[in-house]
Amino acid sequence: MNESCAPRLRATSITDLDFVLGLERHPDNRPFIGQWTPDEHRAAIDRADREHWIIEGGPGGARIGYLIAFDLRAPGLGVYVKRIVVADKSRGLGRGALRVFVQHAFEDLSAEFVWLTVYRENERAQRSYAAVGFEVARLSEIRCAEYAEYVEGVGGFSDHSLVMIRYPPRVMP
Ligand SMILES: CC(C)(COP(=O)(O)OP(=O)(O)OC[C@H]1O[C@@H](n2cnc3c(N)ncnc32)[C@H](O)[C@@H]1OP(=O)(O)O)[C@@H](O)C(=O)NCCC(=O)NCCS
Repeated sequence: MNESCAPRLRATSITDLDFVLGLERHPDNRPFIGQWTPDEHRAAIDRADREHWIIEGGPGGARIGYLIAFDLRAPGLGVYVKRIVVADKSRGLGRGALRVFVQHAFEDLSAEFVWLTVYRENERAQRSYAAVGFEVARLSEIRCAEYAEYVEGVGGFSDHSLVMIRYPPRVMP
C-alpha cells in the first residue's frame, strides 16, 4: 500500500460522532459489532482509560473508519480493542489501522499484550487480525478465575466469541 494512503489514527472528536454512529448502525456492520448510544461514545472519548480513534486514509485524510480501545493495564489485562470498523472492506485498511494501533499500544503504552474478541462466524475479521499477528487464545490454558477477570474487565463478552491475542515482538538478545 502506498505510504500516503496507509491508514492513520487521530483522536475522535465530538464532531465525528455522526460519522461514527452512521458506520456503527450501517447494515454491513451492525451484525458484527455492538451498538452504543451517543453517550457511550462520548464517555469513551472523555475517559482517560479509553481510546477512541478515527481511522483516516488516502492523501486527503478522509475518515474511513474508527477504533475503540480500553486501557486495561492497571488490572493487568493489557490493552483491549473493543471495536474496529472500516467502511471499505477487504482492501487491507482494517489490518493497516490495527497495525498502527498495535504499534501505539506496544511503543507508547508499553502494553504487555493486545487482545480482542470476535464472533466465530466473522471470518473476515479473524483473517484481518491474523495478518497483524493476533492468535486465537487457547482458553483451555486459561484458569477459570483469570477468564472471569477478562470477561469482567471489558464488561462481558459472549461465550460464542473467540479471544485473539497479540504479544509484542520478541527482542533478540
Ligand atoms: C473487520 C474489519 C475491520 C477488517 O478490516 P478489512 O479491511 O475489511 O480486512 P482486511 O482487508 O485487513 O482483511 C480481510 C481478510 O478477510 C478475507 N475475507 C473477506 N471476506 C471474507 C469472508 N466472507 N470469509 C472469509 N474471509 C474473508 C480477505 O480475503 C482478507 O484475508 P486475506 O488477506 O488473508 O485474503 C472490516 O471488515 C469491518 O469493518 N467489518 C465490519 C465490522 C466488524 O466486523 N468489526 C470487527 C468486529 S470483531
